Amino acid sequence: MEIHIVNNYQELSKKAANIVAEEIDQKSRVVLGLATGSTPEGMYAQLVKRYRDNKLDFDQVVTFNLDEYAGLSPDHPQSYYYYMRCNLFDHVNIKPDNIFVPSCFNNKDAGVVCGEYDRKIDQSGGIDLQVLGIGVNGHIGFNEPGQHLQTQTHLVDLVEETIEANSRFFDSIDQVPRQAVTMGVGSIMHSEKIMLMANGKNKARAIQESFGGLVSTRVPASLLQLHRNFILLIDKEAASLF
Ligand code: F6R
Repeated sequence: MEIHIVNNYQELSKKAANIVAEEIDQKSRVVLGLATGSTPEGMYAQLVKRYRDNKLDFDQVVTFNLDEYAGLSPDHPQSYYYYMRCNLFDHVNIKPDNIFVPSCFNNKDAGVVCGEYDRKIDQSGGIDLQVLGIGVNGHIGFNEPGQHLQTQTHLVDLVEETIEANSRFFDSIDQVPRQAVTMGVGSIMHSEKIMLMANGKNKARAIQESFGGLVSTRVPASLLQLHRNFILLIDKEAASLF
């Protein structure tokens, strides 16, 4: 595990963007696994800036998002697809055909959506760099704490803690979808390289429980300790209990 502790959110975003940009620069074609949420917003802004400054080219970049709310279409303002368009896709030269999000809406069969998503990841040669955030309960993607964790892309019931945490993006908590499609921990662990980002005091406990002790399905991010090419990128506040 490679650990970087930086001073603040701005440094975190720049460092994360450096790691992603290096990956894009090094390979003729790169497959990125991407996360949404508050944490990577600054990193995406940095990547867009570098594209505008002609320092980064997304022409040969393929992306797979970690997760998506079930039942929200890609044009729903709270969907993760919409978030990705606003934060990255609409501002860089990525090809629309190279963008993959596990959208499941209009009564699509979730089993079919999940199976197709895993096949597409395989067909693309697997993920070179997976970017992750972490939930206050230690979730990664929407792999919530539990006795068992699923390996492949699957439909998940969100736990109350996650619904509450995510309600800040919706008008009311009742509007937060109760289910999501998420890559499984197996899909995540198969990535060549993984970078988990976290900032702020409210993530300190999750960071301590995930990386300061034992590996347990009760803290899904702790499994990342087993990955051979894992980068933990956190600010001082998130590292405060570590
Ligand atoms: C989002 C995702 C989630 C978030 C996590 C942290 O695609 O997979 O696991 O990374 O909930 O969210 P923020 O960054 O909003 O604190």
